[in-house]
Amino acid sequence: MLEQAIQAAAALPDGDPLAAASALRAAGFPPDLAAAALTQVALRRKAVTKFGADAAVMHFTRAGLEQATRAPVAARRAARLAAAGATRVADLGCGIGADTIAFARAGLRVHAVDASPETASTASANVHALGLAAGVLVEARDATEVPLDEVDAVFCDPARRTSGGRRVFDPRAYSPPWDFVVGLAARVPMTVLKLAPGIDHALLPPGAEGEWVSVDGDVVEAAAWCGPLAAAPRRATLFQGSQVFSLTGSGTTAAPVGQVGNFVYDPDGAVVRSHLVAEFAATVDGTIADPTIAYVYTASAVPTPFGRCYEVLDQLPVALKRLRAALRALDVGSLTILKRGSALDVEELRRSLRLSGTRPAVIALTRVAGAPAVLLLRPVAQ
Ligand SMILES: C[S@@+](CC[C@H](N)C(=O)[O-])C[C@H]1O[C@@H](n2cnc3c(N)ncnc32)[C@H](O)[C@@H]1O
Repeated sequence: MLEQAIQAAAALPDGDPLAAASALRAAGFPPDLAAAALTQVALRRKAVTKFGADAAVMHFTRAGLEQATRAPVAARRAARLAAAGATRVADLGCGIGADTIAFARAGLRVHAVDASPETASTASANVHALGLAAGVLVEARDATEVPLDEVDAVFCDPARRTSGGRRVFDPRAYSPPWDFVVGLAARVPMTVLKLAPGIDHALLPPGAEGEWVSVDGDVVEAAAWCGPLAAAPRRATLFQGSQVFSLTGSGTTAAPVGQVGNFVYDPDGAVVRSHLVAEFAATVDGTIADPTIAYVYTASAVPTPFGRCYEVLDQLPVALKRLRAALRALDVGSLTILKRGSALDVEELRRSLRLSGTRPAVIALTRVAGAPAVLLLRPVAQ
């Protein structure tokens, strides 16, 4: 009955929810069912960015969709786990099942559990809807009570929000609890943990590979690849359109310090978060201009997926009045303001500059050799 109501709701024009609810009730669906169907249709539409065509047959809870791994990210992780020899994985805190689905599609048998019965039944509905039920057992169960002797790999993506939906940055507030999560690798060596991008490197399990993942420039997650799965101390993985790029390194190397060059790269967030700026700088023969700032300067523009490239046109005055005068002399109207290493409030600065010219411009607020600096930039097409 719900699926029928969803089909009817999906056929209605996207826009006026009240009109849609009335139309469904007029078609004979009780109010509760009509509301549930409209919610599902709205969530499916939203889910297309994470799940593509699969979203049309999947079921979601609002929180489950928000927390779900994007399908390409989950698929890559599952393929890596399968390539490492894993055959049976426990997905502890499976949510609506994004990772479970990817593991099953990669040929792994999956024991998926979620403490929330509603979420577990949504995951179960999803593996059925996608024809994957044969290889997946979904249970509403506390992860901490799951015996792990029948699996050769574990994946845990702990909840990182409070019940009020607020993000939790302190891993000690993770659910299942952090001690349980970090202890998994001692029980099952092939353990992968999905963590918040802001995780402190010091909290990664000893010897684990720390991976930071971005999708089209946004850092979406960190992962700890434990035991035999650790292939490098640190990795940045960038999903850009249909391509994936990976950079590895120690995460402890300092980039060489030099002068402001003809070009500057603003490294992808995954490169910065994984502490791979030195490794990135080496790929473009670049240097940084301040030991604490991740802008990488080069003499020439080298195509790279790992950072956005700008030509450095000039260094502008830092003082507000002189900066305003310089930008007005350039007839600047719309200003893109980048910043690394500056405490200035970008919007406040924009207001204070009161620019009314006709040209667009890009500036970077940063530090050079310990001192504040403003660079006038021009984006380089890559
Ligand atoms: C971040 S979500 C998982 C998302 C999932 N990987 C996906 O991509 O769809 C975390 C899930 O862990 C569940 N959870 C929290 N504490 C748990 C516990 N102690 N045992 C089992 N599940 C738990 C939550 O209900 C939530 O659905």
